[in-house]
Amino acid sequence: MNYREIKKDVFFVGAIDGDRRLFDELIPLPDGTTYNSYLIRGSEKNALLDSVDPPMKDVLMDNLAKAGIEKIDYIIPHHGEQDHSGTIPDLLEKFPESIVVTNEKCKTMLMDLLHIPEKKFKTVENGDELSLGDKTLEFILTPWVHWPETMVTYLKEEKILFSCDFFGCHYAFDDLMASENDIEKIMPAAKRYYGEIMLPFGNIIKKNMEKLSDYDIEMIAPSHGPVHDDISIIIDAYKEWSSEKLSNTVVIPYISMHGSTKKMVEYLKGALEKRGVNVIDFYLSGGDLGELAAALIDAATIVIGTPTVLAGPHPLALYAAHLARALRPGVKFLSIIGSYGWGGKTVGMLGDIVSPLKAEIIEPVMIKGYPTDSDLDMIDALAQKIADAHSRVL
Ligand code: FEO
Repeated sequence: MNYREIKKDVFFVGAIDGDRRLFDELIPLPDGTTYNSYLIRGSEKNALLDSVDPPMKDVLMDNLAKAGIEKIDYIIPHHGEQDHSGTIPDLLEKFPESIVVTNEKCKTMLMDLLHIPEKKFKTVENGDELSLGDKTLEFILTPWVHWPETMVTYLKEEKILFSCDFFGCHYAFDDLMASENDIEKIMPAAKRYYGEIMLPFGNIIKKNMEKLSDYDIEMIAPSHGPVHDDISIIIDAYKEWSSEKLSNTVVIPYISMHGSTKKMVEYLKGALEKRGVNVIDFYLSGGDLGELAAALIDAATIVIGTPTVLAGPHPLALYAAHLARALRPGVKFLSIIGSYGWGGKTVGMLGDIVSPLKAEIIEPVMIKGYPTDSDLDMIDALAQKIADAHSRVL
């Protein structure tokens, strides 16, 4: 896809990376991703909002050339992460007259990360405006969506919000506008993106949403995924995801070596469903962690299932516990199930990792060997405790 005009003199000049399958060496990308860069041509000045991931720099340069852009007055990074800022050094080489316009925190990051000299920057504060002649940019600081320096830009005349990662999704679109794509595919991608990137910052997101509610926005142009030309869909979704409203759902990330833990998980799943509780079980070996992150957004309970390996949890169960701790979902209850051969410290080790979540621990069920009927009775009792706990708080 070449450059494309999204409104008069506002161009998408970014790159679509449909083949990329892993982001930050951590986040799976089943739908690929895009790095959205936008060029705004004013009557007096041009501004480029965000750049692209460095391996895609030729696409950006080519799009700028095809759009007939011979000078860039302002390069505006909203965020220091390299998938948006990494090509700025190349842009400064090609357009040496450009000034990098961003906030003080982002400036410091870009000096550290990309070694851009301080003299190339002009810093702005919340509410500052920048005139391009017939177009006016207003900068709105939106910290922690998802780094401390993140900000967005509002193009006043066209009522477009350029939101960088905020409202984005990893989705290699066919057509730029969300309305021209399949919304049934975009919104799950947006939800998993929220779980992976934004979940730890739910309260801050709510505050930033309130800040943005003062603006008359007709279009949201993020830095990943399609442009939202019906903004109510993504705004309503963000309101819901950041609401901290929990659902009657148990997420069970688990791993099994010889079938004991698997049997316990399957039994627990059935016992919970029999009691009207939704279950999302997630097998950790080869699983898509984005799905787990999305499931954690509104789950009321997490139950980690693990065998005992070398006196502790299976390493993949440790990984899941660490992920839950890092994403800081609003879960109210936690438990652990699994098996052992001759003992171990599985419960203590996992409990320590997830303790910052401040969830109530429902007594774990660790059994010796393959589960017997009486072991399964304990799983039944656990399911009842979880169902009762949900009835109390939901
Ligand atoms: Fe898409 Fe936080 O970078």
